[in-house]
Amino acid sequence: MSSKTANLDLYAKVEHLLGIEEATDALHSLYMSELADLEIESLLDVGCGRGGFIKRALAKGMEAKGCDPSEVMAKACQNDGLDVVCGGIETIEGKFDAIVAIFDVLNFMDKEKLNLFLDEVAKRLSDEGVFIADVNTKFGFSEVAEGVMSAEDESGFLNIDATFVNDELTTVFTFFEKERNGKYEKHQESIVQYFHPIRFFQNHKTLKLVDKQTFSLYETNDKTLLIFKKR
Ligand SMILES: C[S@@+](CC[C@H](N)C(=O)[O-])C[C@H]1O[C@@H](n2cnc3c(N)ncnc32)[C@H](O)[C@@H]1O
Repeated sequence: MSSKTANLDLYAKVEHLLGIEEATDALHSLYMSELADLEIESLLDVGCGRGGFIKRALAKGMEAKGCDPSEVMAKACQNDGLDVVCGGIETIEGKFDAIVAIFDVLNFMDKEKLNLFLDEVAKRLSDEGVFIADVNTKFGFSEVAEGVMSAEDESGFLNIDATFVNDELTTVFTFFEKERNGKYEKHQESIVQYFHPIRFFQNHKTLKLVDKQTFSLYETNDKTLLIFKKR
């Protein structure tokens, strides 16, 4: 793997070993309950991963599409027949009643990229449209994400080493992928995630933060849900 998104592609490859299915499901339910009363017809899921939330939105009768910069993620969605492109939000045309960025997507961007990203979201929201996203709190980074873990299954052996310093979480993924001949191929990539304080969002020029709620996905006030409208 040598592409610009090799680190996201490795994440995509090992996500099933992280044990986050239950948390993902709970988070998707929370987003769906926020959207339930809003009569959403069109939805864009940015950083849609394997498309689990798009499938839920389609089941509710919404017109739903998505994008993800990881080719592995985008392909998995396309193989399931979902309307998903490989890339960031800038690849998407049209306007949407709802845009979502679920499970840490905003934490993958540094301040500068996030600022531009929020502008791109505003351009794609219909007049009364809503943007919903979540970010990790400092607790989420220091109490939940930081540390070492390992896991294995028939696909291989994964080791994760995450360090939170100066508001940045650097996670090194080392994956020994089991090949058909019984040998292992080693892949190693790191992902940096950035802590963003709520005041950053409150001061944004094109999106207005209309609601926020901190909650516990892992029993320790680890996440904040953010709801925005266009200014
Ligand atoms: C933890 S996964 C969450 C996936 C999905 N939203 C879900 O709920 O299962 C984070 C996703 O963000 C994507 N991502 C990373 N940087 C991104 C960016 N700049 N724009 C959009 N998506 C991004 C990754 O490829 C990954 O699929």
